[in-house]
Amino acid sequence: MTGQPPRRAAELLGQARRVVVFTGAGMSAESGVPTFRDALTGLWQRYDAQALATPEAFRADPALVWGWYEWRRHAVRLAHPNAGHRAVAAIQHRAPGTVLITQNVDDLHERAGSPDPVHLHGSLFAPRCASCARPAPVSDDAEGEPVDGRRVPPPRCAHCAAPVRPGVVWFGEALPGAALEAAVEAASSCDLLLTVGTSGLVYPAAEIPQVAARLGAAVVQVNPEETPLDGIAEVNLRGPAARVLPALVDAVWGGADG
Ligand code: OAD
Repeated sequence: MTGQPPRRAAELLGQARRVVVFTGAGMSAESGVPTFRDALTGLWQRYDAQALATPEAFRADPALVWGWYEWRRHAVRLAHPNAGHRAVAAIQHRAPGTVLITQNVDDLHERAGSPDPVHLHGSLFAPRCASCARPAPVSDDAEGEPVDGRRVPPPRCAHCAAPVRPGVVWFGEALPGAALEAAVEAASSCDLLLTVGTSGLVYPAAEIPQVAARLGAAVVQVNPEETPLDGIAEVNLRGPAARVLPALVDAVWGGADG
Protein backbone atom coordinates (compact mmCIF):
# COMPACT_ATOMS: atom_id res chain seq x y z
CA MET A 1 0.00 0.00 0.00
CA THR A 2 1.29 3.46 -0.82
CA GLY A 3 -0.08 6.96 -0.25
CA GLN A 4 -3.48 7.27 1.39
CA PRO A 5 -5.16 4.23 2.88
CA PRO A 6 -8.17 2.91 0.98
CA ARG A 7 -11.24 5.06 1.49
CA ARG A 8 -13.13 2.15 3.03
CA ALA A 9 -10.74 1.84 6.01
CA ALA A 10 -11.05 5.57 6.71
CA GLU A 11 -14.85 5.38 6.43
CA LEU A 12 -15.04 2.48 8.86
CA LEU A 13 -12.82 4.22 11.41
CA GLY A 14 -14.57 7.56 11.00
CA GLN A 15 -18.03 6.06 11.46
CA ALA A 16 -17.28 3.56 14.25
CA ARG A 17 -18.84 4.24 17.62
CA ARG A 18 -16.83 1.64 19.56
CA VAL A 19 -13.31 0.91 18.38
CA VAL A 20 -10.89 -1.77 19.55
CA VAL A 21 -7.22 -1.63 18.56
CA PHE A 22 -5.49 -5.01 18.89
CA THR A 23 -1.70 -4.97 18.58
CA GLY A 24 1.18 -7.43 18.32
CA ALA A 25 4.94 -7.35 18.03
CA GLY A 26 4.92 -5.75 14.55
CA MET A 27 3.64 -2.57 16.23
CA SER A 28 7.01 -2.12 17.95
CA ALA A 29 9.22 -3.46 15.12
CA GLU A 30 9.99 0.02 13.82
CA SER A 31 11.07 1.03 17.32
CA GLY A 32 13.79 -1.63 17.03
CA VAL A 33 12.06 -4.19 19.27
CA PRO A 34 12.26 -7.55 17.49
CA THR A 35 9.12 -9.52 16.65
CA PHE A 36 8.86 -13.23 17.43
CA ARG A 37 8.24 -14.93 14.10
CA ASP A 38 9.59 -12.70 11.32
CA ALA A 39 12.15 -14.56 9.21
CA LEU A 40 15.74 -13.75 10.27
CA THR A 41 14.90 -11.11 12.90
CA GLY A 42 12.19 -12.86 14.95
CA LEU A 43 13.18 -13.84 18.50
CA TRP A 44 11.85 -17.38 18.05
CA GLN A 45 14.07 -17.78 14.99
CA ARG A 46 17.13 -17.08 17.12
CA TYR A 47 16.19 -18.36 20.56
CA ASP A 48 14.56 -21.54 21.84
CA ALA A 49 11.16 -20.61 23.29
CA GLN A 50 11.03 -23.87 25.27
CA ALA A 51 14.31 -22.98 27.04
CA LEU A 52 13.34 -19.37 27.79
CA ALA A 53 9.58 -18.86 27.87
CA THR A 54 8.05 -21.70 29.86
CA PRO A 55 7.59 -22.31 33.61
CA GLU A 56 9.72 -25.47 33.21
CA ALA A 57 12.58 -23.43 31.75
CA PHE A 58 12.49 -21.02 34.71
CA ARG A 59 12.54 -23.90 37.19
CA ALA A 60 15.41 -25.60 35.36
CA ASP A 61 17.59 -22.51 34.88
CA PRO A 62 16.25 -19.35 36.55
CA ALA A 63 19.41 -17.31 35.87
CA LEU A 64 19.27 -18.02 32.13
CA VAL A 65 15.61 -17.04 31.89
CA TRP A 66 15.85 -14.00 34.19
CA GLY A 67 18.96 -12.77 32.34
CA TRP A 68 17.18 -13.04 28.98
CA TYR A 69 14.19 -11.01 30.18
CA GLU A 70 16.49 -8.44 31.81
CA TRP A 71 18.19 -8.06 28.43
CA ARG A 72 14.85 -7.57 26.68
CA ARG A 73 13.62 -5.11 29.32
CA HIS A 74 16.82 -3.08 29.11
CA ALA A 75 16.56 -2.99 25.29
CA VAL A 76 12.94 -1.79 25.49
CA ARG A 77 13.99 0.96 27.93
CA LEU A 78 16.38 2.26 25.29
CA ALA A 79 13.72 2.12 22.52
CA HIS A 80 11.28 4.90 21.68
CA PRO A 81 7.62 4.76 20.62
CA ASN A 82 7.21 5.12 16.85
CA ALA A 83 4.71 7.03 14.72
CA GLY A 84 2.40 4.00 14.77
CA HIS A 85 2.18 4.02 18.59
CA ARG A 86 1.45 7.76 18.46
CA ALA A 87 -1.25 7.20 15.84
CA VAL A 88 -2.94 4.64 18.12
CA ALA A 89 -2.91 7.21 20.94
CA ALA A 90 -4.43 9.73 18.49
CA ILE A 91 -7.23 7.29 17.63
CA GLN A 92 -7.96 6.93 21.36
CA HIS A 93 -8.04 10.71 21.67
CA ARG A 94 -10.27 11.21 18.61
CA ALA A 95 -12.57 8.27 19.28
CA PRO A 96 -13.09 8.31 23.05
CA GLY A 97 -13.85 4.91 24.53
CA THR A 98 -11.45 3.13 22.16
CA VAL A 99 -10.04 0.09 23.93
CA LEU A 100 -6.41 -0.81 23.26
CA ILE A 101 -5.58 -4.49 23.67
CA THR A 102 -1.95 -5.46 23.24
CA GLN A 103 -0.06 -8.74 23.23
CA ASN A 104 3.15 -6.76 23.67
CA VAL A 105 5.09 -6.85 26.91
CA ASP A 106 6.84 -3.54 26.22
CA ASP A 107 5.58 -0.16 27.47
CA LEU A 108 5.76 1.75 24.19
CA HIS A 109 2.00 2.31 23.93
CA GLU A 110 1.98 3.90 27.39
CA ARG A 111 4.98 6.06 26.52
CA ALA A 112 3.23 7.21 23.33
CA GLY A 113 0.29 8.47 25.42
CA SER A 114 -2.12 5.54 25.42
CA PRO A 115 -3.71 5.32 28.83
CA ASP A 116 -4.16 1.86 30.29
CA PRO A 117 -3.70 -0.69 27.50
CA VAL A 118 -5.02 -4.17 28.26
CA HIS A 119 -1.82 -6.25 28.45
CA LEU A 120 -2.94 -9.75 27.46
CA HIS A 121 0.53 -11.25 27.80
CA GLY A 122 1.74 -9.33 30.85
CA SER A 123 4.61 -6.86 31.01
CA LEU A 124 8.40 -6.76 31.21
CA PHE A 125 7.90 -4.12 33.90
CA ALA A 126 5.78 -6.15 36.32
CA PRO A 127 7.98 -8.86 37.86
CA ARG A 128 6.38 -10.86 40.64
CA CYS A 129 7.25 -13.55 43.15
CA ALA A 130 7.18 -17.00 41.54
CA SER A 131 5.66 -18.40 44.72
CA CYS A 132 3.42 -15.86 46.51
CA ALA A 133 2.83 -13.72 43.37
CA ARG A 134 3.45 -10.42 45.20
CA PRO A 135 4.73 -7.68 42.86
CA ALA A 136 8.49 -7.15 43.03
CA PRO A 137 10.39 -3.95 42.25
CA VAL A 138 11.79 -3.51 38.74
CA SER A 139 15.57 -3.39 38.96
CA ASP A 140 17.46 -0.34 37.72
CA ASP A 141 19.15 -0.86 34.40
CA ALA A 142 22.90 -0.68 34.50
CA GLU A 143 24.52 1.93 32.31
CA GLY A 144 25.47 0.96 28.79
CA GLU A 145 24.28 -1.55 26.25
CA PRO A 146 21.96 -4.41 27.17
CA VAL A 147 23.92 -7.67 27.26
CA ASP A 148 22.44 -10.65 25.43
CA GLY A 149 23.15 -14.10 26.82
CA ARG A 150 24.24 -12.99 30.32
CA ARG A 151 23.00 -15.21 33.13
CA VAL A 152 21.54 -13.17 35.98
CA PRO A 153 20.23 -14.87 39.13
CA PRO A 154 16.71 -13.56 39.85
CA PRO A 155 16.24 -11.45 42.97
CA ARG A 156 14.44 -12.96 45.97
CA CYS A 157 10.94 -11.98 47.07
CA ALA A 158 11.03 -9.57 50.03
CA HIS A 159 8.18 -11.48 51.71
CA CYS A 160 8.85 -15.18 51.18
CA ALA A 161 12.37 -15.31 49.69
CA ALA A 162 11.27 -17.35 46.67
CA PRO A 163 12.74 -16.30 43.30
CA VAL A 164 11.15 -13.38 41.47
CA ARG A 165 9.96 -14.17 37.92
CA PRO A 166 9.20 -12.01 34.87
CA GLY A 167 5.60 -10.76 34.79
CA VAL A 168 4.92 -12.15 31.34
CA VAL A 169 2.73 -15.02 30.19
CA TRP A 170 4.77 -18.06 29.23
CA PHE A 171 3.81 -20.90 26.89
CA GLY A 172 1.50 -23.27 28.72
CA GLU A 173 0.24 -20.58 31.13
CA ALA A 174 -3.20 -19.01 31.38
CA LEU A 175 -3.65 -15.37 30.39
CA PRO A 176 -4.34 -12.93 33.25
CA GLY A 177 -8.06 -13.39 33.91
CA ALA A 178 -9.04 -9.72 34.23
CA ALA A 179 -7.20 -8.76 31.04
CA LEU A 180 -8.74 -11.59 29.03
CA GLU A 181 -12.20 -10.74 30.34
CA ALA A 182 -11.76 -7.05 29.47
CA ALA A 183 -10.51 -7.97 25.98
CA VAL A 184 -13.39 -10.35 25.25
CA GLU A 185 -15.89 -7.81 26.55
CA ALA A 186 -14.45 -5.03 24.35
CA ALA A 187 -14.26 -7.28 21.28
CA SER A 188 -17.85 -8.40 21.81
CA SER A 189 -19.23 -4.89 21.86
CA CYS A 190 -17.14 -3.01 19.27
CA ASP A 191 -18.16 -2.15 15.75
CA LEU A 192 -14.61 -1.84 14.43
CA LEU A 193 -11.54 -3.84 15.37
CA LEU A 194 -8.21 -2.60 14.01
CA THR A 195 -5.61 -5.37 14.22
CA VAL A 196 -1.99 -4.25 13.86
CA GLY A 197 1.24 -6.21 13.55
CA THR A 198 0.22 -9.62 14.79
CA SER A 199 0.68 -12.99 13.11
CA GLY A 200 -2.63 -14.15 14.64
CA LEU A 201 -1.09 -17.50 15.49
CA VAL A 202 -1.05 -17.48 19.29
CA TYR A 203 -4.22 -18.47 21.12
CA PRO A 204 -6.29 -17.48 22.95
CA ALA A 205 -5.19 -13.92 22.03
CA ALA A 206 -5.84 -14.59 18.33
CA GLU A 207 -9.48 -15.26 19.22
CA ILE A 208 -10.03 -11.56 19.98
CA PRO A 209 -10.38 -10.33 16.38
CA GLN A 210 -12.38 -13.43 15.54
CA VAL A 211 -14.85 -12.76 18.37
CA ALA A 212 -15.34 -9.22 17.05
CA ALA A 213 -15.86 -10.44 13.47
CA ARG A 214 -18.28 -13.19 14.53
CA LEU A 215 -20.41 -10.64 16.37
CA GLY A 216 -20.62 -8.37 13.36
CA ALA A 217 -17.77 -5.87 13.80
CA ALA A 218 -15.73 -4.81 10.80
CA VAL A 219 -12.07 -5.86 10.99
CA VAL A 220 -9.29 -3.76 9.44
CA GLN A 221 -5.81 -5.28 9.43
CA VAL A 222 -2.44 -3.50 9.23
CA ASN A 223 0.41 -5.87 8.37
CA PRO A 224 2.99 -5.97 5.58
CA GLU A 225 2.46 -9.75 5.27
CA GLU A 226 -0.49 -12.10 4.85
CA THR A 227 -1.80 -13.63 8.08
CA PRO A 228 -4.59 -16.04 9.04
CA LEU A 229 -6.64 -12.92 9.88
CA ASP A 230 -6.76 -11.85 6.21
CA GLY A 231 -9.94 -13.84 5.71
CA ILE A 232 -11.94 -12.02 8.37
CA ALA A 233 -10.59 -8.55 7.54
CA GLU A 234 -12.82 -6.35 5.43
CA VAL A 235 -9.77 -4.25 4.58
CA ASN A 236 -6.13 -5.38 4.58
CA LEU A 237 -3.68 -2.48 4.70
CA ARG A 238 -0.40 -4.04 3.60
CA GLY A 239 2.37 -1.95 5.05
CA PRO A 240 4.32 -1.10 8.19
CA ALA A 241 2.39 0.30 11.15
CA ALA A 242 4.50 3.45 11.50
CA ARG A 243 3.56 4.47 7.95
CA VAL A 244 0.03 3.09 7.55
CA LEU A 245 -1.49 4.20 10.88
CA PRO A 246 -0.54 7.92 10.69
CA ALA A 247 -1.89 7.99 7.11
CA LEU A 248 -5.14 6.39 8.29
CA VAL A 249 -5.52 8.89 11.15
CA ASP A 250 -4.78 11.71 8.75
CA ALA A 251 -7.36 10.42 6.27
CA VAL A 252 -10.06 10.34 8.95
CA TRP A 253 -9.34 13.41 11.04
CA GLY A 254 -6.59 15.34 9.29
CA GLY A 255 -8.65 16.79 6.49
CA ALA A 256 -6.74 14.81 3.89
CA ASP A 257 -8.48 13.73 0.70
CA GLY A 258 -9.95 10.28 0.69
P1 OAD B 1 4.71 -12.36 15.71
O1 OAD B 1 6.20 -12.22 15.69
O2 OAD B 1 4.14 -13.73 15.70
O3 OAD B 1 4.10 -11.58 14.45
C1 OAD B 1 4.53 -10.28 14.15
C2 OAD B 1 3.68 -9.78 12.99
O4 OAD B 1 4.04 -8.42 12.75
C3 OAD B 1 3.91 -10.53 11.66
O5 OAD B 1 2.65 -10.87 11.09
C4 OAD B 1 4.64 -9.50 10.80
O6 OAD B 1 4.31 -9.62 9.40
C5 OAD B 1 4.13 -8.21 11.36
N1 OAD B 1 5.03 -7.06 11.18
C6 OAD B 1 6.38 -7.03 11.11
N2 OAD B 1 6.82 -5.77 10.98
C7 OAD B 1 5.71 -4.98 11.00
C8 OAD B 1 5.51 -3.56 10.92
N3 OAD B 1 6.54 -2.71 10.81
N4 OAD B 1 4.24 -3.11 10.98
C9 OAD B 1 3.17 -3.95 11.10
N5 OAD B 1 3.32 -5.28 11.17
C10 OAD B 1 4.56 -5.79 11.13
O7 OAD B 1 4.20 -11.49 16.95
P2 OAD B 1 2.80 -11.59 17.72
O8 OAD B 1 1.69 -11.85 16.76
O9 OAD B 1 2.71 -10.39 18.58
O10 OAD B 1 3.75 -14.26 23.36
O11 OAD B 1 3.04 -12.86 18.60
C11 OAD B 1 2.05 -13.27 19.51
C12 OAD B 1 2.72 -13.78 20.76
O12 OAD B 1 3.67 -14.80 20.43
C13 OAD B 1 3.53 -12.75 21.52
O13 OAD B 1 2.76 -11.95 22.37
C14 OAD B 1 4.47 -13.62 22.30
C15 OAD B 1 4.86 -14.62 21.25
O14 OAD B 1 5.28 -15.86 21.72
C16 OAD B 1 4.13 -14.10 24.63
O15 OAD B 1 5.08 -13.42 24.96
C17 OAD B 1 3.26 -14.82 25.59
